[in-house]
Amino acid sequence: MSLNPSPKTIHVFGSLNMDLVCRTPRLPQLGETILGSDFATLPGGKGANQAVAAARLGAATTMVGRVGDDAFGRQLIEGLQAAGVETRGVATAAAGPTGVAAIAVDDAGHNTIVVVPGANGQVDGEDCDRLVAQLQPGDMLLLQFEVPLPAVIAAAQAAQAQGATVIVDPAPARDDVPPEFFETVDILTPNQTEASQLTGLQVTDLPSATEAARQLVQRGIDLVIVKLGDQGAVVATADRTWHQPALAVNAVDTVAAGDAFNGGLAVALSEGMALEDAVEFATAVAAASVRVPGAQASMPMRSQVAALQTT
Ligand code: RIB
Repeated sequence: MSLNPSPKTIHVFGSLNMDLVCRTPRLPQLGETILGSDFATLPGGKGANQAVAAARLGAATTMVGRVGDDAFGRQLIEGLQAAGVETRGVATAAAGPTGVAAIAVDDAGHNTIVVVPGANGQVDGEDCDRLVAQLQPGDMLLLQFEVPLPAVIAAAQAAQAQGATVIVDPAPARDDVPPEFFETVDILTPNQTEASQLTGLQVTDLPSATEAARQLVQRGIDLVIVKLGDQGAVVATADRTWHQPALAVNAVDTVAAGDAFNGGLAVALSEGMALEDAVEFATAVAAASVRVPGAQASMPMRSQVAALQTT
């Protein structure tokens, strides 16, 4: 037996979006029109963002999903390839556009996001077959909720059957997740809103996040991490819970910080890092990402994470 097992491949089954990003001094109120200061089309999608995060940190990474037969779709695939992500698993939908996300980012780096799924909404069993063809025992699978839930459930079941580790980012929050789904989940990483939705608790602070994490662990999930933005994260296993503080950075854009965290966590665990160190590393990856505008554009290289951890 090797003392340093080779890192395993990280597979991402999920969404690819083109982000249509408006910078505004503040987020608009309901019914209000305000003037923005800047606009950009930038590669995004929770799935693709997590894939780029993992690849930039040095992991062998594959992406499985769907884009439309259009310019946005081709740009997204090229962007993944440039980051080092294997894209054989990304299919072009016969009809329908590539997914888009309309995003507003204010001067404090906060955001609102509306996703129109497009081709992501067509992900089904065929995509799952392409995933299964690539999965090996010991690999990691990253899932989110931006593609249809039946496909997410099928992918988790397939990965469990193959002996892969299943990490689920239950984003965006939804209320129709069957309880048995959690039997296929090894690691769950909700944010505050998603933890509230999943538990029915009002998750507003560290004590309520800790209680939510404990309740989710009691459903049979090995590891639950409630991501709390600049408050860090609450981590719970069957044996213990603890708080991992965030690194203090100057945030210019928090879009995809949660995706950066999940990519970093998967890379760290795939390399055999101890859990405490892996959570600290993921926190640093997320912190590095909020210093740069954009989703995939903000995913840091390993050296940038290391530099942040030593400052
Ligand atoms: O998590 C951030 C992502 O959410 C954005 O890139 C956007 O595409 C939406 O999917």
